Amino acid sequence: MPTTQSTETTAEDLPRLPFPRGDVLELAPLYEQMRERGPITPVRTPAGDVAWLVTGYAEAKALFADTRLGRGHPNPEQAAKISGSIIFGGPNGETPDTEREKHTRMRRLLAPAFSARRMGRLREHIAELVAERLDALEAAGPGADLHEVLSFPLPVLVICELLGVPFADRERFSGWSEGLSRLDDRERAERDAAQLAAYMRELIDRKDTEPGEDVLSDFARMSERSEDRDGLAGLGAGLLFAGHETTVGRIDVGTVLLLSRPEEWAALGADPGRADDVVEEILRMAQPGSNAGILRYAHDDIDLAGTNIAAGDAILLSAGAANRDPREFDDPDEFEGERRPAHLAFGHGPYFCIGASLARVELTEVFRALPARFPGLRLAVPRTDLELRNDVLTGGIRSLPVTW
Ligand code: HEM
Repeated sequence: MPTTQSTETTAEDLPRLPFPRGDVLELAPLYEQMRERGPITPVRTPAGDVAWLVTGYAEAKALFADTRLGRGHPNPEQAAKISGSIIFGGPNGETPDTEREKHTRMRRLLAPAFSARRMGRLREHIAELVAERLDALEAAGPGADLHEVLSFPLPVLVICELLGVPFADRERFSGWSEGLSRLDDRERAERDAAQLAAYMRELIDRKDTEPGEDVLSDFARMSERSEDRDGLAGLGAGLLFAGHETTVGRIDVGTVLLLSRPEEWAALGADPGRADDVVEEILRMAQPGSNAGILRYAHDDIDLAGTNIAAGDAILLSAGAANRDPREFDDPDEFEGERRPAHLAFGHGPYFCIGASLARVELTEVFRALPARFPGLRLAVPRTDLELRNDVLTGGIRSLPVTW
């Protein structure tokens, strides 16, 4: 367990996550206060345990890449807990050795599905889906909910197509996807995760007789044994979840961010070719979740930036805070469309987001088309009225009413 830096400070005195914030564009001020104290500082997790919070860019990048960290804990019963989340709430049950082996296998299995070639082929189709969603926005009329019409369905449509999941089943699987990311109801999260995996297993079996050009058909072809299929079903469930809960928040928050800077909206509408760069700056700044950070456990003693991290300590890598570290980015709270930041929104190193190129294609197509087609778009409610979803790991906003 991290020792506190001052002998007079006890664990109870440490700032406790999640840190409150006023609106969705803000990084909670406590992250900055912590970074001013040091790039790696002890905090209390939402569960009340002690962990190292990493808010410095250089330190977060180094620790993302450090193979002495993992998601499993050598003695899980002694591990600091983060929250009630079944995803990043505590150790993942693997030992350092089984973890490395399983992780390498998982990356190898998924790499072909997300290859640059497949993503390139998908781009045109994603552009069509965006155009359809913008037609739907126009049809819904001023006062429409951009979250419901665009930000939520688009990534779900895309991941369904890539995996070979029927979009018509969305009410069932979207409910499970949301349920499994809940922070306040572990029983429901576990039940929904199991339901989603069972549903994916059913689909993989169906691909034996109805194969397609999709990831679940690849999974069916590569597995004959039932236990292999169960593992692949879990992996498919993870992808469906990732496709639901990550890109959505960046479309919502990216739109709010650009609308708060009307000159950026106008410039992008006039020159959609700027979208690639603008998306990187959105990824740097948008922090839809108020979640604690990306969890790792130290598998060895680590000395970094004057801090002694002991084997077994919990570490929370805050990409959101690192992405606003003034030692790395000039005027970090300013949106600069041409900055081309080397941000950590997709992590870094061995766990770097597998879906990063897919997410980039989706975001670029949205921000290429939306400002050009709706140059007069604006929020239909004050920004501070947008309701933050604090009950799920990935956060985001519940709805985004817009007018034009
Ligand atoms: C803008 C949207 C997205 C963001 C910001 C994002 C962010 C991240 C981050 C920070 C990680 C690293 C986690 C870690 O270090 O432990 C990660 C991993 C991952 N992401 Fe994404 N992601 C996004 C979209 C997607 C999409 C669309 C998919 C797939 C459909 C996806 C699939 C994955 C997978 C499978 C991993 C695990 C990689 C591993 O454990 O090696 N992500 N993502």
